Amino acid sequence: MININVLIAFYSRSGVTEALAKAVAEGAAKAGAEVRLRRAREFVDPEVMAQAPGWQESAAAMNARYPAPTAEDAAWADAIIFGTPTRFGNVSSELKAYIDSLGGLWVQGRLNGKAGSVFCSSSVQHGGNESTLLSMYVPLAHLGMIIVPTGYADGVMFKAGTPYGATSISLNQAKSPSSEDLDVARWQGQRVAMVASALKAGGMIQAAA
Ligand SMILES: Cc1cc2nc3c(=O)[nH]c(=O)nc-3n(C[C@H](O)[C@H](O)[C@H](O)COP(=O)(O)O)c2cc1C
Repeated sequence: MININVLIAFYSRSGVTEALAKAVAEGAAKAGAEVRLRRAREFVDPEVMAQAPGWQESAAAMNARYPAPTAEDAAWADAIIFGTPTRFGNVSSELKAYIDSLGGLWVQGRLNGKAGSVFCSSSVQHGGNESTLLSMYVPLAHLGMIIVPTGYADGVMFKAGTPYGATSISLNQAKSPSSEDLDVARWQGQRVAMVASALKAGGMIQAAA
């Protein structure tokens, strides 16, 4: 496998999506990729955060573990895997703000041909994981990325997840991702790294400037 770089850019308020992100990172690293794990930052007022018990503490702890994602990270990457908790069936504004910050790279065509993939966590079973994942395919298409679904291309996919990306159901953050959820996330990281490797070998991905 040739050397490839995988950026995992995620938002997580209370750690559920973070657990999926770490498993995605394990899978990409297993495939031989160099991995950067990055957490998108909040931009709401601290008073708003203080109204949700534990939000500030959890954000501070995760921010100490992960830098914020930058445009340089996206330029460095051969693949970008985006993760978010669902927000009313859609992507979190924190992760979307990072995606929106990539306009400078988009206008230069610098993300064209890179592999892109998505994962998500919801509170309840029909709470919007799939709609969130599919909604995130839209900006990936605009950015010119080659969307990599999880599909049913491995046995782990018949036990958990969705064909669009890894998921978990947290029951209002009471439940961590199951071992089956984490297997899907690892598979996703591995698969995206392998696809990015093939894209790079085929000349689809520009070298980072
Ligand atoms: C503003 C807001 C909107 C949410 N919308 C949904 C929703 O539509 N469906 C759902 O199942 N969970 C919803 N949730 C719950 C989170 O998506 C869920 O608990 C997730 O597992 C949290 O992941 P995290 O620990 O990575 O932040 C919402 C939470 C917040 C704060």
